This record gives sequence, structure tokens and C-alpha cells, in this order.
Amino acid sequence: MVHTPRFTRRNVIKGSLAATLGVIFAPAPVRASTPLMGFTPVPLSAGKGKMPMISPDYEYQVLIPWGSPLQPDGPQFNYPPRAEDQLQQIGIGHDGMAFFPLGERRGVLALNHEFGKNLHVLGRKDPENHHHVLTSQAAHGMSIVEIAEQNGQWTQQKSRYARRIHINTKVRFSGPAAGDDLLKNEADNACKGTMSNCANGRTPWGTYLTCEENFNLQFGATGQFESNAAQLRYDILGSGGEYGWHLFDPRFDLSDPGYTNESNRFGWVVEIDPLDPEFTPVKRTALGRFKHEGVAIVEASDGRILAYMGDDSTDEFIYRYASAAPWREMMAAGTHPLDEGHLSVARFDQDGTGEWLPLEALFTDQQFNGPADVLVHARLAGTVLGATPMDRPEWITPGTEGFVYCAMTNNEFRTQSNAANPLAPNPHGHIIRFHDQPVPHGSTQRFTWEVFISCAAYYEKETTLSSPDGLWADPDGRLFVETDGEQRDGMNNQLLVVDTVTREIRRLLTGVPGCEITGITTTPDRRTMFVNIQHPGKGDPSLTNFPHAVDNRTVPRDCTLAIRRKDGGIVGS
Ligand code: FEO
Ligand code: CA
Ligand code: CA
Ligand code: CA
Repeated sequence: MVHTPRFTRRNVIKGSLAATLGVIFAPAPVRASTPLMGFTPVPLSAGKGKMPMISPDYEYQVLIPWGSPLQPDGPQFNYPPRAEDQLQQIGIGHDGMAFFPLGERRGVLALNHEFGKNLHVLGRKDPENHHHVLTSQAAHGMSIVEIAEQNGQWTQQKSRYARRIHINTKVRFSGPAAGDDLLKNEADNACKGTMSNCANGRTPWGTYLTCEENFNLQFGATGQFESNAAQLRYDILGSGGEYGWHLFDPRFDLSDPGYTNESNRFGWVVEIDPLDPEFTPVKRTALGRFKHEGVAIVEASDGRILAYMGDDSTDEFIYRYASAAPWREMMAAGTHPLDEGHLSVARFDQDGTGEWLPLEALFTDQQFNGPADVLVHARLAGTVLGATPMDRPEWITPGTEGFVYCAMTNNEFRTQSNAANPLAPNPHGHIIRFHDQPVPHGSTQRFTWEVFISCAAYYEKETTLSSPDGLWADPDGRLFVETDGEQRDGMNNQLLVVDTVTREIRRLLTGVPGCEITGITTTPDRRTMFVNIQHPGKGDPSLTNFPHAVDNRTVPRDCTLAIRRKDGGIVGS
């Protein structure tokens, strides 16, 4: 076979620079006849067991299961954990994460601990005392751990970077809503904590962004409480969610007059420097408050930061933030690119175009009480502006050729279709891709878009998929898709690789019963990929005991998988 080089040298250099900086307008890769994906896929019929299945060309290794010590010499896992141990152990609900290299085959993994139900964490449905609540709280938030690879095996390292961030960690607010009355309480309690940390992002200046999603679930009321319209829109209900924290921690008690605005302190994008163990997490209010799934940061051709964000609830919106000026200039001038900028929300039109609608159009509108009110209630602002209600926007990732991909996971409740959400109902979801041109603020902010994959069209095929959630595009034109929802024939959730030119799909990995696959990051050479097995068996040992061997007794534990090609090649190839 004649060897056709896929890239000119110039394109390789530009392409790898683009990958490093996340530049959106990278040149289109020149495609050859060789397929992007050479691996043997996992058949549909094989992906139903109690243990993960991976392509025969690949292998996986389990890392940092829930409850394992944060430092190798820290407290070992005991079930159920004690709060004081859990604070020094890996949390539960492994979700978004990013690998920060510290040199050859060594780095820091920053990862989110989105959720773990009480039955899983505590072995009981409701907390019965404050210690139970402290244990649940300690299991959530984030972990930062150092790992290194030797002879093909990754191991956790004792590290000065190792750290837990949780609901009782000191945090601060920045941006237009910081210091506003909407973020103050009668009790004058300090700003603490991050929770419901779902997906993530990373900045070109080397920090990690963790995104607060279903923060309503931690609030409830012990006494009389009626949600106002804004709280209703954010599902802040006196009946409470699944945690019962409000029973023993007044911060989460909606009926406690001392903490009426505590729920406004969540639903933000939070910045953390994983290489500074003393760093105080910063909630960046310029990016708006909603149920943040994740944040995809790209550097526009003019040096500004663009941040694409989904709000994962039925009929919620997709947002884009643009920094006020090129990020390097802003930092040199002492301003932060995530504090001063313009937040917009997407309207998708029938003709395949769309518009980013700036929220600042409402900063002086009588319906709102200034910029902080608009940002704290971004969902309400989006509705006023005429944004398009989407089928639960989950992860967003910038791909090649200037495309940005976004997973609409599903929407069983849709009764009326719209341009970008053509199925009503939409039980299996779809993936949209759009392409925008950053223009100076004040000009029309247009983009074009298309439905890239309608999962319904694949559902009956061997390459079946439903409920796309996690996404990551590599610089060669592969799109990695992680699912979170019922798959055909009872197959477990899966990791798929899509060729974005031919739209061929191959199944790289299936998980275990009850789990979703989420979180995705690689080493810089892309020869190890990390993904997470979240809520295996939903905590039920009769479904799976992963990562332990099957014994039908041992409580399953969320964990990270390090995935490698057996021949050492690039993951996805
Ligand atoms: Fe935490 Fe929308 O997934
Ligand atoms: Ca999840
Ligand atoms: Ca998700
Ligand atoms: Ca999901």
C-alpha cells in the first residue's frame, strides 16, 4: 500500500500548537485513505457483564477508587467510611477530570466527585446525625492526586499537590456578582465549598475549572418554605433532594432565615490551580449561574477566551462567554479573563444558523436588578432573550476545523420540536456541532450549526448508542463519546470513538451495570487516556462489585480507568 502522509510538516506543527493552546480555528487535517480507527470494537453482545469490556487491542488499569487514601500512607478504606477518614481519601462520583503533566510520565490528576447517594456512601437512605452529613459532605467535591507511570503501570504518588476540596473548603467569589447582596446571608457566614461538581474545563494558563451542576439536591427545608419563581426555575424545593444535609447543617436548610441566599452561592464555574495546594477556589460569576455541566475553553484567533457551556436540564440553554480582551493582555494588566467579558446564550434558527444573544442587554432592564441579578438568574435571562430550549446540553468540546460539539443527552418530555431539537420526544439524544466566528463585542454574533449525530438513527445498529454525555475531540478528528443512559439490549454504558469525517463509530469500552462512563483526559502524547466509572451498580453489590472481583457482596466503588493501546499507540487509533 502506498503510504500517504496525513499531514504536511507545517500542519503537524500548527496542529500540535493548536492542540496545546486549544485554538479553535486550527487548519483542517488533510485526510488520507487510512481509517482513523484501526481497533477491533467491543461487540454489542459482549458489553453486558459485571466487569468492563475493552477492545482486544487495548488494556485498562484501575486507579484511585472511592475511599482509597489521598496520600499512599493515608487512612485505608473501611465501609462505611468515617467523616475524618473520608476527608483524607478519594471522594465518590468520579466525573470530569484533567491531567496536568509534571514531566515525562508523571502528572497531577484533578477530578470531580459529583455525587454518591446516601445508600452508597453511608449504607443508609437518610442521615441520622451530623456525622453522617459530614461524611457525605467529605465524599463530594474534588480530589487532586499525583500519579506516575513506570513499566506501563500508573501508581499514585506521595505528593505535595495532593488535596481534597469539598463543601467546607474556603472559597471566594469574583466577577460582577461578587459581593452582591444576592450572595450574602443574614448569618454572615463565610463563602465555603463547591458541590455537584460535574464536568470540567481547563484554561490555557494552566488552571482547572470545576462546574457545579445539580446543586439543588443538597438543599431542603425543615420548616415552612415556599420557593419563589427564581428558585423554582433552579429546582430549589423545600421537599429537598437526596442528601438530607439540611437536617443537620443549617446552611442547606431553606427555611432557616440565616441562610436564605446560600443556594445562590452554587451553580457556578469554579477555578482551581491544581499545582498550588494553598489556592483558594474562585467562583467566576461572569460565567453565569445555572446547572453547569462543563466548560470548553478555546482561544479565539484574536487571543480572547471563548468558553462554551451547557446547562443540563430539560429545555435549558447553551451559553458562550467571551473575555473582554485577549487573555494575555488582560492578565498582564492585572485583570482576569474570566472576570471581565460577555456572556451570551444561544438561539438556533431553522435555516442552520444561530445567534449568541448577549445577557448584558438585560443589565439595565426593569425585569432585573442589574448585572448581578442577571448573572445569578441566567436561566431567567435566557428565556427573556429568546434562547432555544435544548434537550439537556451536557459536555461540549472543540473539534477540528473550527467545529464545537455538544451532546444533547435526551429529553423524554419534549412535546414540541424546535430547529436544533427535532425529535419530540427524544429518548436517545443527539450531538450537535456548530461553528462560530468570534467578532468584536457589539457586532452580530452569528454561528452555523447542524445535527451531527441523531442517536435514534444508530440505535438499532451494532454501533448503537443512546444518551451521549461526555465528549472529547482529539486533534486528529476523532470524537470520543461517553454515554449515560439505558443502552440497547441492556448493554452497559460505553465509550465510543467517532470519525468526524466519515461518521463511522467504534466501541472502545463498555462499563459495568448501573454505571455511567464519564470524565476524559489524556497524557500529552495521548498514549494513556483516563476515563471514569461513575456510580457502578448504583452502589448495589448484587449488580456489580467493580473494581473488586465479582462476589455479590462487596460494595462497588467509583474509580478511574487508565486506558492504553497494547502496542503503545495513540488512544482511539
Ligand atoms: Fe452531571 Fe449532566 O451530568
Ligand atoms: Ca453523572
Ligand atoms: Ca454528565
Ligand atoms: Ca448525564
